[in-house]
Amino acid sequence: MSLDSHMPTSREAGQGIIHDLPAASPDKDPIMQFQEWFDFAQSANIYLPEAMTLSTASPEGIPSARIVLLKCIDHRGFVFFTNYNSRKGDELNSNPRAALVLHWSTLQRQIRIEGNVERISRDESETYFQSRPRGSRIGAWASHQSMLLNERSELSLRVERLNQKYPGEKIPCPPHWGGFRVIPENIEFWQGRKNRLHERLVFKRLPSGDWQTKLLYP
Ligand SMILES: Cc1cc2nc3c(=O)[nH]c(=O)nc-3n(C[C@H](O)[C@H](O)[C@H](O)COP(=O)(O)O)c2cc1C
Repeated sequence: MSLDSHMPTSREAGQGIIHDLPAASPDKDPIMQFQEWFDFAQSANIYLPEAMTLSTASPEGIPSARIVLLKCIDHRGFVFFTNYNSRKGDELNSNPRAALVLHWSTLQRQIRIEGNVERISRDESETYFQSRPRGSRIGAWASHQSMLLNERSELSLRVERLNQKYPGEKIPCPPHWGGFRVIPENIEFWQGRKNRLHERLVFKRLPSGDWQTKLLYP
């Protein structure tokens, strides 16, 4: 299917680009600023505004990136959930640093976050796990995320067996499944502007815990 045949769909969905939105403010707390932009992206009917690119690297510095969903934001950091034995899980276990990127094209906004990564508490992971739909909870048990799958039927069979093992709503959280928190050291707010004269504001966390701001050339 060509790209052109998709275009009417995106126009029908009213996804026009919004111009001249305000840039981020250096006077705001960056987590509050993030929340403000995130709320705006949600209210702009963007599909999955919480989708973000997560970059990790092996101890040798070989990078890898994939999309995950942002599930919780507070002053401690940015939380996503995954399989701790996946490729990203392995990389974060041996090299606990990550970079996140959110991009909302119709708002001409991008946010970049970098920092150390920690596992959230077992309690927090279990509470979140139990809030997920039954199918997703079975899926978390069924998938050996990032491992070799010989054929698709192997996965369906695992799902079938798990449905027999856990016929009701009571499904425990797998020990290898949970949340990671990216503790921000740098947060950059990027606002698109005409003639590529975009605005970039970076918040850098100082050892004191205060945030220092600086502007960057676009
Ligand atoms: C929109 C979208 C949302 C996703 N959300 C998650 C997520 O929250 N957690 C997750 O582990 N994988 C998520 N995935 C799948 C990952 O992109 C990736 O395929 C998977 O985690 C395996 O990555 P890894 O082999 O690098 O560990 C999502 C994919 C897409 C396209």
